[in-house]
Amino acid sequence: MKKKLILSIAVLISMILISCTVKHETLSIIPLPQSVKVGNGEFTITKETKLIYDNQLVNIQNVIDYFNGYLMSSSGFQLKTTDAKSVDGASISFKIDKSIENNEGYKLSIDKSGITISSSSSQGIFYGVQTILQLLPEDIYSKEIVDFSLNLPYCEIKDGPRFKWRGMHLDVGRHFFNTEFIKKYIDYIAMHKMNRFHWHLTEDQGWRIEIKKYPKLTKIGSVRKETTEDGTPHSGFYTQEEVKEIVEYASKRFITVVPEIEMPGHSTAALAAYPEYSCTGGPFEVATEWGVHKEIYCAGKEETFKFLENILTEVIPLFPGEYFHVGGDEAPKARWEKCKDCQARIKNEGLKDEHELQSYFIQRMEKFLNSKGKKLIGWDEILEGGLAPQATVMSWRGVKGGIEAAKSEHYAVMSPGSHCYFDHYQGLPENEPVAIGGYTTLSKVYSYEPIPEELSPKQHKYILGAQANVWTEHIPTPEHVEYMMTPRISAIAEVCWTNKELKNLDDFLSRMDKQFNRYSVAGINYAKSEYNVAIKNKFDAATKSMALELDSELPNLDIYYTLDGSDPDTNSIKYSKPFSINQNTNVKAVSYKNKKKMSNITTRNFQVHKAFGKEITVVNPYKEKYSAGGKYGLVNGLYGGSSHNSQWQGYEGVDFEAVLDLGESTEIKTIETKFIQKNKSWIYLPEFVEYSFSEDGKIYSGNIKIVNEIPKRKSGIVIEPFTVNPKNLSTRYIKVFAKNIGVNPDWHQSPGGKAWLFIDEITVK
Ligand code: ACM
Ligand code: ZN
Repeated sequence: MKKKLILSIAVLISMILISCTVKHETLSIIPLPQSVKVGNGEFTITKETKLIYDNQLVNIQNVIDYFNGYLMSSSGFQLKTTDAKSVDGASISFKIDKSIENNEGYKLSIDKSGITISSSSSQGIFYGVQTILQLLPEDIYSKEIVDFSLNLPYCEIKDGPRFKWRGMHLDVGRHFFNTEFIKKYIDYIAMHKMNRFHWHLTEDQGWRIEIKKYPKLTKIGSVRKETTEDGTPHSGFYTQEEVKEIVEYASKRFITVVPEIEMPGHSTAALAAYPEYSCTGGPFEVATEWGVHKEIYCAGKEETFKFLENILTEVIPLFPGEYFHVGGDEAPKARWEKCKDCQARIKNEGLKDEHELQSYFIQRMEKFLNSKGKKLIGWDEILEGGLAPQATVMSWRGVKGGIEAAKSEHYAVMSPGSHCYFDHYQGLPENEPVAIGGYTTLSKVYSYEPIPEELSPKQHKYILGAQANVWTEHIPTPEHVEYMMTPRISAIAEVCWTNKELKNLDDFLSRMDKQFNRYSVAGINYAKSEYNVAIKNKFDAATKSMALELDSELPNLDIYYTLDGSDPDTNSIKYSKPFSINQNTNVKAVSYKNKKKMSNITTRNFQVHKAFGKEITVVNPYKEKYSAGGKYGLVNGLYGGSSHNSQWQGYEGVDFEAVLDLGESTEIKTIETKFIQKNKSWIYLPEFVEYSFSEDGKIYSGNIKIVNEIPKRKSGIVIEPFTVNPKNLSTRYIKVFAKNIGVNPDWHQSPGGKAWLFIDEITVK
């Protein structure tokens, strides 16, 4: 009898505390806590629930206000607070617990007596609050009052971050974002338990922070005439008062703002305002094109250092954090090589070359920053020519820089382009807005391990953490920043927070379902790229026809499609294997999981013609970034529009030559190939296009040549068909040749640069 009782108590206890592994998906906390035990039961927060806090917790009012802010906006009430130790009934309690060593760590327990968060600091309590928000129904993120019960599951959580530096960067130089959006960005960082906001404030294309001593920096340096893409002016900067407001806003969310003032390169906007600090004296304009620009601060003139030190003297007091970022990346040395002042500096300082001059430059800035109580951090190029004595390295050109820094006992933040650049494509480029390049999916970000294998256990401590970067050349709006940032920020947050042994991609992706709901309710324009269906052309060798394959990044999704232009749902055809099409077809596809729609609809409108899906062989390779869908990109029945980034195949500096094999002798009435011209983007129509024909693929005849008559200088977007209508022609092979003009003409802003050819579908009828 006694034995039976003990047994049933044991069963009861195990029912109450079910261990973590099975329940991640139901709680769906991101980043995953270090330890979770789920109980049986729910606690409900009501208007009457009291909040008790320990006033030894410094700045705890910020956390209380933050939590109450969410309750107020979604539920219309806030908690009454008391620092009294005893309260009748269930309550929420923020307690100090000095035994929790990591000041960012916390313990959370929820049971019938209420909610207790303990930590040694308010920052730890803040992360406990983030977890509470995630344990509540998604409606807690609503900006409008909604009717829902504030229920939380009983649980015990012990948590704390793996890394100290959990960063998100934003480039406000290429595009300016106002303070309202910067605050939202900071909120998103906080929501993911990240703690560094790297604010990239200066660029070739714009200087974005008020400097009272040098008003032209913003008067001239914050205004860009246009970009090659949009042709419209762009401007904006933050006053020092606005900067203070942002820093304060971030600090209430336990986020340190790391300012970046770029030097010695990426400085065209500053030099447009003050050309006297360049090597040549100018004049310059604020850059209108993306890329690396050759203008650079003169490292020979003393006045340059005075100028920069005066700027830093104004900027430093605005940012209480310990680090100051000086850029240091992509500093071309051509100006220094030709400058008598820079060469004199090299000689007088006994430097070996321009790399050592860059090192001299950064070391001087480090001394200055150290004298003001700041630590210097810079991109990994600051290693070249010798690292400044106390510098911390931000490793972006892969992980080498981080490894080298750690091996020489310098700290490093890992931010390799391969995994941490959120300006890269996150889905198949054909389904995405134009991005800088790359292919960095949610899963790829998640797979990142910040501690390189090359480091010994003793060196691990030099890796402070990781950071994701959002460069905004192709990101002009806040909505677009949100799209590039979310959901990938969930992955980098877990990379930075959760211990390596606990990470699991499938588990993470299953928790993302709820995270997407949170994003939705919070009104964040998150990307659904990993759920989107790619419609890929697949040549079926057996039937010599074009088959379509439907695929998505995430496995185990149900894909439904239609062929009649209607929107697909679960009543449409369920995809199981590739299928052929042989007439004009508007394919629409969508993914579902457990009958829930997960993706946007992908649409492809195929125009079938005589070359559709036929074998094509190109002589010179196209650029991978502009593949128009790959090998069958020019015979896939899809046409390009005004953006050269999709369905146009791009050839850099070379002619286009291809042979089409129609499979058998075929009667031809029309051949039409379109090209696009955008001379500002270095893209031109061909000098001429020539078609020739063959029955055996060896001897070609019947050449027809069409010479282009549209001027190279014609501005804007020109799309031009090169069409022939041969009489009485039957042929199996068609050769298409298009002559590239070679290089940008003399009148171009970059004369001599390689010219591009962009070609659309080769349509045969
Ligand atoms: C960088 O991406 N140039 C740091
Ligand atoms: Zn110089």
